[in-house]
Formats: sequence, C-alpha cells, structure tokens
Amino acid sequence: MQNLKAHKKLERIHHLNFSLLPTPIHKLNNLSRLLNINLYCKRDDLTGFAFGGNKTRKLDYLIEDALEKGFDTIIAVGANQSNFCRMASAAGIVTGLEVHLVLGGEEPKKPTGNLLLMHLTGSIIHHINSENWDDWVAESENLKKKLENSGKNVYLLPVGGSTPIGALGYVKAFKEIVEFERINEINFNYIFHSTSSAGTQAGLVIGKTISDWSGKVIGIAAAMDKEILENEIFELSLATGELLDIKVNKDDIIVDDRYIGEKYAARTKGCEEAIELFFKNEGILLDYVYTGKAASGVIDYARTGKFNDADNILFIHTGGNIELFE
Ligand SMILES: Cc1ncc(COP(=O)(O)O)c(C=O)c1O
Repeated sequence: MQNLKAHKKLERIHHLNFSLLPTPIHKLNNLSRLLNINLYCKRDDLTGFAFGGNKTRKLDYLIEDALEKGFDTIIAVGANQSNFCRMASAAGIVTGLEVHLVLGGEEPKKPTGNLLLMHLTGSIIHHINSENWDDWVAESENLKKKLENSGKNVYLLPVGGSTPIGALGYVKAFKEIVEFERINEINFNYIFHSTSSAGTQAGLVIGKTISDWSGKVIGIAAAMDKEILENEIFELSLATGELLDIKVNKDDIIVDDRYIGEKYAARTKGCEEAIELFFKNEGILLDYVYTGKAASGVIDYARTGKFNDADNILFIHTGGNIELFE
C-alpha cells in the first residue's frame, strides 16, 4: 500500500526547481546484450543545472530552506573537485546568496573541472591544505562564526548536502521511478547507485518505504566501509523520515563496499573498464570517483550471476563526469 499521507507531506514541502525533472529513464540496449541482463539507466547526470548530477536535487530543497528562513549567505564544504560545491556555488549565486566554499586539498596552480566552474561563479573560495574531512568541517565552523560576527546570517551546508532536507530530493526521485514503472508496465528488481555522504541513499530508501516497493536499493560505496555507512544512512533516513512521518527498516539499507579499491578516488581496473564500456556502448560518460565504481559493481554482479534472467536493473547515473576534464 502506498503511503499517500507521506506523498502529500512531501508535496507540501517547498522547493526550487533547479533540476529539470523528471530525468529520463531508458534501456541500455547494447550493455544489456553484452552483460546478458536487462539494464536501464536513470539519467540524473541530466538534471540540467550547472552540469547536473544528484546534488541538484538536494539543492532544490536546501536553497529554498535557506531562503525561506531568511539566510543571506551559504557555506558549502568539500574537496577541490567537489561536485556538490560546484552546484551549490551556482545555486547560491543565482538566488542572490553570498557563497563561501571551504575546499580541502592543496590549491592547484590552475583551476580545472569543477574548481574552474566554482571560480566562474564568483564564489569566495577558502582553500584548506588538508585531506582530512574533520579539518574541513572545523574550518567551515570557524568561518561561519567569523561571518556571523560581521553581521551575516549563515546557512552551513555539510559535505554532500546530506541533511534531512537535502535527502528529500531523492524521495522525490523515487516517485519518478515508480511513475515510470507504472506508465511502462515494468518492475525494477534492483536500483544501483553510487553512495558516499548518505543523502542519496537515505532519500531512496524512504521513497521505497513510502511506495511499498519490493526491490532492493544497493549503494555502491565510493569511500566508506559498509557498516559505518549503513549506520550513517540509517541515522539520516530516521531524521528525514520524521519530516514525512515514515520509519525505514534498517534491513532495507544495503551498501556494498567491495568496489572502492585502495581508497576514495583511487582508480580501479573495474572502474576504468566500466567507463570504457558505458562510453563505447551507450555514449554515456561516467567518472572515476563515483559512477564508474558504481557501474563496475553492476557489471561484476552481472558477471558473477547475481541476477535472474527476468530481473530488471536500474542504474542511477548520479553525474560527476566533469571529473574527466580535471
Ligand atoms: C557524482 C556523484 N555521485 C554520487 C555521489 C554520492 O552521493 P551521496 O553523497 O548523496 O551519497 C556523489 C557525492 O558526492 C557524487 O558527486
């Protein structure tokens, strides 16, 4: 039974429309043939705003929340090549907010890829020469205090925009998937996507719960161990669920951490192969940090016989392919 009350609650929560929705879902015919599975792709790389990707959906809700609550400044935190900071930077600037970015890692001599776009928006960039997330968070909290002392009203966006409000973007995405199933008389048995800061997966699992959907949502980890990330996703989905009066089942949260390789952003053979296969067979560009690794997981599941012949598999392309141009 669909939970109509939760659907209605979601509809009443205000949001902006940076994302051009719904994003298309289409079958990947050549890859399906090659892997002997029924593989579909939801093109969240085509959300349309500032090069697109999953973070646009979160920002639809986050920036509206900041504006409604009267904030005049946002701080976004991430790595030098953060997809989230690229989109937060653009979303903040176009809505008239002052944007500060706290970027971790050594400042490159010449900005490329995401960092180049962050410079183009005119956001104020604060580099912090550390690879440690805790240092980035501490720096962003110091900056928040400093800006508040100078009279600014500051909305601090955590790494990846993964707050309960941000996660609502993927509750909405799940509705689009269910609507596609209804119109096309198809049932997906699996949804695969890249998972890292918990927001995308928390939103999807809440969507699954609201729609009483019986398939599996599998997050392929980009950085974190299975157990730690599953707990983070559970915590975030409980907090997000409170906004919609929904409680998720911990068993519905499934992370597979076997495709990370040496560490976050380190290239793997599987990821390199996935990028080549997706481009050569479907003309779709993935990236080496998130979507390439997630796709390498799907390919491995197919080759090791994890799917039944009749299974329909949906891969959510969460964007990030600007990384190819770093
Ligand atoms: C392209 C891309 N895909 C997937 C993810 C993971 O999403 P989340 O952080 O919501 O788990 C990210 C996060 O940075 C991303 O940039």
